[in-house]
Amino acid sequence: PYPFYEEIRAQSPIHWGEFFGNRGWYITGYEEASMILKDLRFQNRMPLPETTKWFERLKEIQKQMVLYQNPPDHRKIRRLVNERFTPKVLERYVFMIEETAEQLFSHIKNDKKLDFIADFAFPLASTVIARLLGVPERDKDLFRRWALTLIDTIDLNRSRKSLVKGNECIVEMVHYFKSLILNSKRNRKNDLISVLVEEQNNDKLTEDEVLSTCILLLIAGHETTVNLISNAIYCLATNQEQQIKLREEPLLLKTAIEEVLRYESPTQLTARIASTDVIINQTQIKKGDHIYLFLGACNRDPKNFPNANTLDFAREPNPHLSFGAGIHFCLGSELAKIETKAALRTILKNTNSIQIDSKQLEWRNLTGFRALKELPVVFN
Ligand code: HEM
Repeated sequence: PYPFYEEIRAQSPIHWGEFFGNRGWYITGYEEASMILKDLRFQNRMPLPETTKWFERLKEIQKQMVLYQNPPDHRKIRRLVNERFTPKVLERYVFMIEETAEQLFSHIKNDKKLDFIADFAFPLASTVIARLLGVPERDKDLFRRWALTLIDTIDLNRSRKSLVKGNECIVEMVHYFKSLILNSKRNRKNDLISVLVEEQNNDKLTEDEVLSTCILLLIAGHETTVNLISNAIYCLATNQEQQIKLREEPLLLKTAIEEVLRYESPTQLTARIASTDVIINQTQIKKGDHIYLFLGACNRDPKNFPNANTLDFAREPNPHLSFGAGIHFCLGSELAKIETKAALRTILKNTNSIQIDSKQLEWRNLTGFRALKELPVVFN
């Protein structure tokens, strides 16, 4: 997508246009995106058409997700889940995450060729979020199918068919989580579902709010993390010089992960609607206008990132927007980084080189996400 981003940025970093039938302001400038994300006059709304006969349940459930809520409602669920994702709380899971990464690697080590996504990145991220939430890990195949279906419903390039399929998927997920909630009421545990159910028992959350939060956390909690871990391996394999540098200087791991987030941002796009007339850098935005923020473009804005199209594992500072900004700043950013660190450590420790045949690679047909279909790698 990068030449396309450059082309529209050259016209204007805040560009009025229409892509895939979506008319609005397309943001490719870093400063402009930072301002919009932090400005509450731009609201995060569910990107669905108003007439929704065929996807009523999808609409109801999405509307209540913290991601699509605005103040003051946003705070209620966000405050509750925040407590479970602070660095201090997540520290308790580091050992489990590292152990899971080692175990997964030990299973694939002898295979010369593998699909890194199906064999490592996905099982790692889905196991971790399943454990945090309190969802049976054996249902991983379901999570994968649900995530792939729901991601299609929020893409710019979505079809009506994807919305209908998304609705069926939400109906299935609601059914699935209702039985888990019932179970959790019977025997209370220390997982996130139990925390949410307790709030429901105290009349602080409705059942639909609990369901929406479970669905959002399950999907957001693994889909983009799988892509971060896979994009990191892709970056290492396609930039041998940086791979060698990281092997020689393991202390660079932290900045290397930030650089992968910037350079191949798993979330490429997010959207807002102006709740009132607003002027951004001399551009008049009207109430009701749609705004599409290409985060992957902003992260390569040459005004803010020197040599923006170069991957540099030692880059600092690196104030990328890959986790968003403002009140909707990603809840799981720390968790995603812990998982990616564990994954890379395991792989660097147990291999001498990582290689891929770039010609075989194909990116999924999405405007909102940077995700490979498969990642056949060779570890030596
Ligand atoms: C919000 C990216 C991992 C849960 C966001 C947003 C971005 C993002 C860009 C802001 C969207 C917006 O403002 O419109 C990512 C990336 C990840 C990742 C790139 C991995 C590399 C996770 C994980 C979880 C999670 C592991 C859960 C455990 C959430 C939630 C929100 C969110 C709940 C909504 C927060 C709110 O509205 O207050 N994420 N995310 N994400 N993310 Fe993530």
